[in-house]
Amino acid sequence: MMWFSLTISLILFRMLREDNMIQRFGISLENDLLHAFDKRIQKKGYKNRSEAIRDLIRDSLIEEEFTDGNKQTNAIVMIVYDHHQYNLAQKMTGIQHEHHDTIIASLHSHLDKHNCLEVILLKGKAGELQHIADSIISTNGVKYGKFIPATAGDVL
Ligand code: NI
Repeated sequence: MMWFSLTISLILFRMLREDNMIQRFGISLENDLLHAFDKRIQKKGYKNRSEAIRDLIRDSLIEEEFTDGNKQTNAIVMIVYDHHQYNLAQKMTGIQHEHHDTIIASLHSHLDKHNCLEVILLKGKAGELQHIADSIISTNGVKYGKFIPATAGDVL
């Protein structure tokens, strides 16, 4: 297998941007992996690899934030459900009222005659946010649900 080592750059210089030091470092990776990465970031509209790598690091740090169940943080839950489904709309409202101190806002959009899209914003301890999200998403009749970790950005 052919290995291709790419050195983006070594720690050649540092420069100041705002009050945060920018440092350069080298990354070595296989040729195929680099091509796949370049293809992906081009599709996503990144102008350069650095910004794409920064975003990957940020994603990883946000993920890390959620491994500490007691950490105060933020999250979004997105669900799609059929409001004709027996009792479901009431159940959704019930869950949200039950957690009124954690659920800080929600947006409801009537997608069509049957389906509702709901975006719910949560603020509180990471573990609790995950638990509430799980109970919302696993409610019978929810067609699709996604938990999206967010952050106030302390770690970024
Ligand atoms: Ni609706």
